Amino acid sequence: MPQGPIGVSMTGVALYGSQSMAAKLDLLELKTPIVQAGMGAVARHELAAAVSEAGGLGTIAGVRIRIADELAAARRLTGRPVAVNLLLPFARPGDVEEAGGADAIVTFWGRPRRVAGCTWIHQCGSVEEAREAEAAGADAVIAQGVEAGGHVRGRTPMLELLERVKSAVRIPVLAAGGIIDRRGVAAALEAGAAAAVLGTRFLMSEESRAHPEYKRRCGSADRTILTELFGLGWPAAPHRVVPNAATRRWLGDCNPTPAWISMANRLSRPLVARLPESLQAQALSRQRSGMPLLSPQPPTDDGPAGLVDSGPLYAGEGVAGIDDVVAAAQIVEMVTP
Ligand SMILES: Cc1cc2nc3c(=O)[nH]c(=O)nc-3n(C[C@H](O)[C@H](O)[C@H](O)COP(=O)(O)O)c2cc1C
Repeated sequence: MPQGPIGVSMTGVALYGSQSMAAKLDLLELKTPIVQAGMGAVARHELAAAVSEAGGLGTIAGVRIRIADELAAARRLTGRPVAVNLLLPFARPGDVEEAGGADAIVTFWGRPRRVAGCTWIHQCGSVEEAREAEAAGADAVIAQGVEAGGHVRGRTPMLELLERVKSAVRIPVLAAGGIIDRRGVAAALEAGAAAAVLGTRFLMSEESRAHPEYKRRCGSADRTILTELFGLGWPAAPHRVVPNAATRRWLGDCNPTPAWISMANRLSRPLVARLPESLQAQALSRQRSGMPLLSPQPPTDDGPAGLVDSGPLYAGEGVAGIDDVVAAAQIVEMVTP
């Protein structure tokens, strides 16, 4: 089977279940082996389209948006392939159908399963999860190292996990976690990654919808914390963040998440899942760093500014090496080997 520059075979057209005919993503169309990670609330059509237009693969995060509208907006900006990211525990039936209109779906968290007919890539934190995704029919997997920003699935450093996953599955393996520059991309490709997946570097782009103060804090951050603090509605899901008032209040310099907070997040999960979106938005605007039940929603340029201190400033370990906010197209150029 012919292989693209990033090693994913071209399988032409595929039909799955009741989905209409969906062309598989032809990764030969990508000019560069750079994939922008799905980043809930901050990666919308502007960022995805800019990355795709620059020759990489841009990804719209399918969280708290109408996916069809975002996809249509991205399509107006670029004729190149665009992916949609779905967090499996939160994907609603409408989301899945709308995401099926993308060139690829990147799923994360929970038991891997194909949700639509287009190319399916699952982000994994372990060899076992990668094997499970392959058995479920994934076209490729992303090996996510512990260095990654946002929610972190496993505990293994990226290059080590990449090597282990590569020898365990036959499908292409992409690499994510701590990659912020050309050297990092080259190292991942040399280690056999089909492409490099970058989140934090693209968070720090002009097109990302992160709140300007969130970007500023990332620009001056020199460390990150892996915690479960911002687990309201999404408990037992460790995430990597830059310190802020909330982490200082509840974790001090770098303590583990207090057990009672993790427990409260777990117990309140069914209730939070049933809250209408309007009430969730109200609660979010009242969130304060001194309150223990903290939502996983990060501060965006159109959301409550208070989240800069009371919400999660997701970022990967590589954030310490980033001090500029530039156009996404420039980032693609800067990091391509
Ligand atoms: C701000 C932010 C939000 C994220 N949100 C998501 C998400 O909604 N879905 C997802 O699959 N991964 C998410 N991630 C994790 C990324 O998919 C990816 O694993 C990570 O960004 C790679 O590490 P890096 O940030 O060091 O490049 C997020 C990462 C960041 C930085």
